[in-house]
Amino acid sequence: MSELLKVGLLGYGTIGSGVIKMLTAPEFGLSGRIKLVKVADTDLVSEREVKVDPALLTDDPDAVVNDPDIDVIVELIGGVGAAKKYVEMALDAGKDVVTANKYMIALHGDALHERATRGDARLLFEASVAGGVPIIQVIREQLACDRVLSINAILNGTCNYILTRMEQVPGMDGEQAVDEARRKGFAEADPTLDVSGMDTAQKLCILVRKAFRTPVLPAQIDLQGITGISNVDVQSALEMGYRIKLVAHSHRVNGKLEIWVGPALIPQSGSLAQVNNEFNAVAINSEAHGEQLFIGKGAGMMPTAGAVVGDLFTLLNHERVPSLLSQPRLDLPVVDRNDVRCRYFARFTVKDQPGVIAAVSSELASRGISIASVVQRENTVDPERGVPLVVITHETTVGALAAAVAAIDHREIMLQPAHTIRIMDSL
Ligand code: HSE
Repeated sequence: MSELLKVGLLGYGTIGSGVIKMLTAPEFGLSGRIKLVKVADTDLVSEREVKVDPALLTDDPDAVVNDPDIDVIVELIGGVGAAKKYVEMALDAGKDVVTANKYMIALHGDALHERATRGDARLLFEASVAGGVPIIQVIREQLACDRVLSINAILNGTCNYILTRMEQVPGMDGEQAVDEARRKGFAEADPTLDVSGMDTAQKLCILVRKAFRTPVLPAQIDLQGITGISNVDVQSALEMGYRIKLVAHSHRVNGKLEIWVGPALIPQSGSLAQVNNEFNAVAINSEAHGEQLFIGKGAGMMPTAGAVVGDLFTLLNHERVPSLLSQPRLDLPVVDRNDVRCRYFARFTVKDQPGVIAAVSSELASRGISIASVVQRENTVDPERGVPLVVITHETTVGALAAAVAAIDHREIMLQPAHTIRIMDSL
């Protein structure tokens, strides 16, 4: 156990500022045990909310990584270019690394872990998934000897905020909700990574690698974002007793791994449905522990900085950090996306004319898809714009539904492409 951990920080942005605050403000109780030695950033000019002793600042990350007085590198640069280069340099030199970089860990976690092992260094990344929710530590330590059966999670605060607001404000569309999220500081200027579901997919890869000991790349995940969700979808779901959430899902099924990221209708009474606004949540079911639910802030300066500093504290107190990446891999095969089974909510924006419901139901029936319910509201305001026909199906496969929807979209009854959303009654 070290008496003192000497830290070099790469990246003096929002999270870096939070880390500086925690390492220097006396109320966090760390001064004297974890010492900030150097801070590197290419921008030393911009005003920051959290100040740092100018003597610690440099614009040269090499000087930080190569400083023999530094034990641990905190990487908060982001991306896989410079960030990966400096992390590799640090691990090769035997320095421990703490990072919040989900993209780098999702893509290169195994290779970096091997590098760390060769360099006799440790690599921790709690802040890369769900910021203030200590879920990596739970999987790495508490669940290390358990058999994880499923993970269902809300991992993107921006999307959760947008969907919550679309539910609370009837008529609010996705664009308006994104604008509001930006004004409140929950969404980036360009929220593409968030609303496309890619941010969630990267985080799910990290959880799945650890919980199911199976490496999966974001590109292998069946991915649907929230951009196609309309207020009609959100309000219709509500009337049917559901909420729409962007769900990250994985579970064992017949020796394989089902894994996807996408919007899903989940029952309003379920625990994940209570997670609103910018909050994240992870529900894990494992053989011994059973169902567990973790909720917290997944982003923001202090929750994410808290996860980084928590990792530093782990390094300070544990000579050897247990690593699930060093346990034997299971390499579960991934279920073909077309074979995944669920019920579906499908919205067809159709002309209000005879035979429309018959046309939709015949395309579904010819692929063995059974309809559980249909709701169509008359459009008395502007009949030319058609009517939303909402169909709930019984359980079917993703492949069968996709084929039926492709055929329906070709019919001249359709005014807009159909939009389909999974239903997860078990959540
Ligand atoms: N942009 C992410 C979110 C946080 O909205 O949850 C960083 O991963």
